[in-house]
Amino acid sequence: MTDPATRILDISRGAMKGDLRTEIIEGLQADPAQLPSLLLWDDEGLRLFNRLVQSESYYLGGKEGEILRKHVAAITAQVPSGAVIIELGCGQRRRAVSYLALDVSAQELSASVDALEQEFEGAAFVDIRGLHGTYDDCVHWISQGASLGKDVIFLWMGNSMTNGGFDSAQAVLRDAAVACKRNGLGVQFLVSCDACQDPVRLMDAYDVAVPHHRDFILHGLENANRVLGRPVFQPADWTAHAQYDAKHSMVDVSYMPIRELVFHVEDGRPPVSLQPGAKVRAITSGKWSPQQMDAVARGAHLQVEQTWMDDEQIYGRWEDILGGLDDTR
Ligand SMILES: C[S@@+](CC[C@H](N)C(=O)[O-])C[C@H]1O[C@@H](n2cnc3c(N)ncnc32)[C@H](O)[C@@H]1O
Repeated sequence: MTDPATRILDISRGAMKGDLRTEIIEGLQADPAQLPSLLLWDDEGLRLFNRLVQSESYYLGGKEGEILRKHVAAITAQVPSGAVIIELGCGQRRRAVSYLALDVSAQELSASVDALEQEFEGAAFVDIRGLHGTYDDCVHWISQGASLGKDVIFLWMGNSMTNGGFDSAQAVLRDAAVACKRNGLGVQFLVSCDACQDPVRLMDAYDVAVPHHRDFILHGLENANRVLGRPVFQPADWTAHAQYDAKHSMVDVSYMPIRELVFHVEDGRPPVSLQPGAKVRAITSGKWSPQQMDAVARGAHLQVEQTWMDDEQIYGRWEDILGGLDDTR
């Protein structure tokens, strides 16, 4: 049993709410308009997401499980003895490994640590702890000299790495690798990425006309009201919209007003007006081919060492970026 005092370490730097507030205000005025995807991931948002991933059309979780079961021996063989595994955005995953589970949602994190502790009760070799914070907080924590042995493996599963787009995925990979290297740690990443580029299958999986999908997205507006401290967004004025953008290989999920809306988000700023049918991006889900994943890795000065795909070879891809930093830059 993990010492309760160090069971969940709060590594958040407390800026989360202030940063989110600024991102909401600036995102509404941006072109294209967007709200931060972190708004989707409070405790209630995760509850709604967990309901959505159980639907049959949402193939990602099932495909990832298929790949993990099939290649578990090859994957675990890559883990050096004594390595620390940090799972970025652990969500509701209950993986049977010794690791540090990181998530921005405190309640879900605590539930995941509880479940893993129960599963490994009595197994003295398993040390399970939680890290409460964002990906950026984690990078900062490592760069400040966190004591982590000699090798770190980051797990980034459930296609989460694509949620902020190419640039953001590259930045997290690069910054995490640099922080480890500066701290004298070896680093590897084991990430999963959806490679499905079939518009019909994608629109079936991201069908926001289905109530539990729409509820998950629109909950982000209620969370935005909480962050802003007043009811700026009325969920009844909005619906959700999803489309596959083949040019950028991503599904864009947006909040969409159903009537003309004018917001006074903050004193001293001009009002924001939105026409019915305008799109305010809520989150993206990248659908990256093996070539695109190579480009993401290279942009972070990493290289893809090994890739495993599901039997259909079209989606649910599990990618392994090994080998640490490419020192040729
Ligand atoms: C799409 S879910 C995936 C969950 C899990 N990895 C899986 O495979 O099912 C994304 C998870 O990442 C967390 N998350 C999203 N952005 C984050 C950030 N910037 N920092 C920390 N956690 C984040 C959310 O709270 C949520 O649990």
